[in-house]
Amino acid sequence: KSSYTCPDIMCLLLPLFDFRGVSMTHFFTDNWENVQNFKARPDDVLIATYPKAGTTWVSYILDLLYFGQTSPERQTSVPIYERVPFLELIVPKFRSVKSGLPTSPRLIKTHFPVQFVPKSFWEQNCKIIYVARNAKDNMVSYFHFDSMAMIEPDPGDWNNYFQRFMQGKVVTGSWYDHVNGWWKKKQTSPNVHYMFYEDLVEDTGREIDKLCSFLGLSPSEDERKRITGGVQFDKMKKNNMTNYSTHARMDFKTGSFMRKGRVGDWKNHFTVAQNEEFDEDYKKKMKDPTLQLRTDL
Ligand code: A3P
Repeated sequence: KSSYTCPDIMCLLLPLFDFRGVSMTHFFTDNWENVQNFKARPDDVLIATYPKAGTTWVSYILDLLYFGQTSPERQTSVPIYERVPFLELIVPKFRSVKSGLPTSPRLIKTHFPVQFVPKSFWEQNCKIIYVARNAKDNMVSYFHFDSMAMIEPDPGDWNNYFQRFMQGKVVTGSWYDHVNGWWKKKQTSPNVHYMFYEDLVEDTGREIDKLCSFLGLSPSEDERKRITGGVQFDKMKKNNMTNYSTHARMDFKTGSFMRKGRVGDWKNHFTVAQNEEFDEDYKKKMKDPTLQLRTDL
């Protein structure tokens, strides 16, 4: 990214600013009015995550569950980020969605904290899937992503990024507020399914079963096996429709989107002192004992 010269308006969209108490860039806020007025349909499915928690993985699982049988051409010709577009950019995206794609149910993703989700999703009782990832790996993954994604502010050096992440001075704000806010919402909203990246790594099939029972889907045993196998990291890394290699705003010279896909990579980045500082701060911010996000993995 250092050698990258911004060719267009995107450069102007990068500075971080406070937006209703959350660090944001113009990229995620300029469409605010349209997004807030978005008319959700009852069968829309929303995937909500803090960036780098496994959005693409769960998007792909859902796309296969809903369309793997009925619309196989979707899998071979349309990148996952178009099959499951961003709510934050959705109005333009849905306008340009390729003809021939099934439009129902609409699978939509968002990085919004819970309070930013347009009210029609709650009014229509849409199913919402929240994916959380342990903070340390989430931070590391975000750091690498920010180095390669031209839609993100430059991460700077690791020590600096480490502090900024803990202060919530990254795009979509505080990880702590995000996971806590969605967890609180889940307690009163049966339409929110809260899942963990680490559980998906541990047993993908089991987590797909839970998703199916939440969504009321019953794939055949063959289909379930096919999906569980097809969404493994190595498969997705090789698949041009899921590895983002077709995305114009990723600089693959500085990294890859499907980077490691592991639990515990933070141990290769955190110093002992950083780990202590992090744990101390974590205890203060994560007070709800019912939210079991692991930091020890
Ligand atoms: P790493 O950077 O740790 O490798 P998002 O889709 O929310 O941007 O999240 C991206 C992270 O999810 C990356 O993490 C990516 O490798 C990981 N990921 C994507 N698909 C995965 C899979 N099938 N198995 C494990 N991790 C996966």
